[in-house]
Amino acid sequence: MTRRLNALVVAFFALALTAAAETPQPARLPHVTILATGGTIAGTAAASTATVGYKAATVGVAELIAAVPELATVAHVTGEQVFQIASENMTPAHWLILARRVNELLTRDDVAGVVITHGTDTLEETAYFLDLVVKSAKPVVLVGAMRPSTAISADGPMNLFNAVALAASPDAVGRGVMVCMNDRIDAARDVTKTDTTALDTFRSPELGMLGFMQRGRPAFYRTLTRAHTTATEFDVKDLHELQNVGIALAYAGSGRVAIDALVAAGAKGIVNAGVGDGSLSVEAKAALVEARKRGIVVVRASRIPGGPVVRDGEADDDALDFVVADNLSPQKARILLALALTRTTDTREIQRMFRRY
Ligand code: SIN
Repeated sequence: MTRRLNALVVAFFALALTAAAETPQPARLPHVTILATGGTIAGTAAASTATVGYKAATVGVAELIAAVPELATVAHVTGEQVFQIASENMTPAHWLILARRVNELLTRDDVAGVVITHGTDTLEETAYFLDLVVKSAKPVVLVGAMRPSTAISADGPMNLFNAVALAASPDAVGRGVMVCMNDRIDAARDVTKTDTTALDTFRSPELGMLGFMQRGRPAFYRTLTRAHTTATEFDVKDLHELQNVGIALAYAGSGRVAIDALVAAGAKGIVNAGVGDGSLSVEAKAALVEARKRGIVVVRASRIPGGPVVRDGEADDDALDFVVADNLSPQKARILLALALTRTTDTREIQRMFRRY
């Protein structure tokens, strides 16, 4: 009798354990923090049809989150208002504050990822800066909108939903800083704003996007080969200022005025956005040679959106002691040069960095 009872008790517990294993446990959603900085995603206009001439950076982070209740299906979301500016007013000082906050948040075990809402005009610059200085493999996603929050068919809410879903996804870990707009996922290094007003403005024209967002999940199609985040040598923990690095844009007849102005303004580095393969006019070359003799680091970039600037191609970079920007746009070459100057002024070392990042 006792033996039968024991067998029944064992059978009961075995059944209970099986049932427990098969009952789906309520999943604990990952915690994503949204750092809001302003931009059109937080913009408002007087009319719902106004998509230009609105006021950027007026809606606060709590309202942005409240406008997308669906966020609660993919993440436990909290928000912080870091800045409230249009991104044309973003500066390296803002980048440093933002980077330190991202790094602090990502050291926390309870934070799975960070989303940064940002104006689209300089979004790609902030994204690349963070890609070089964030010290975590956890996802960091920048997102904006081309239409203000008050517009019919505003793109901000869906962009924000996708960005949070991406930041919450384990598949997004280790992929560097990403930009998520219009259902696409792009790498910070490669992405650029290609259209002044269109919704599908963010593209990685030469190298392609990383993937798509589909039904609140990322689908990735390529991985990165350039070093980023945890694999870089840059550390902004105790850095409160970046070196003065400027860009001189070449055009027919531009001469040397812009280069001389940068030198006079105390630039420690100059990115020359040359024509074609970074070609230099006679005047520009003379001005850059003089700048280099003063110790200013010169990077030859191109105003052309595709292709690398070839070392010792259109200028004798070895002899002139110039660096080439590879295929980085002038605005991204400026960021890498400013960070490189936190480590060294040796041009061979800086050229190595332009090959690595
Ligand atoms: C901005 O960059 O802050 C304004 C434009 C935009 O967000 O689309």
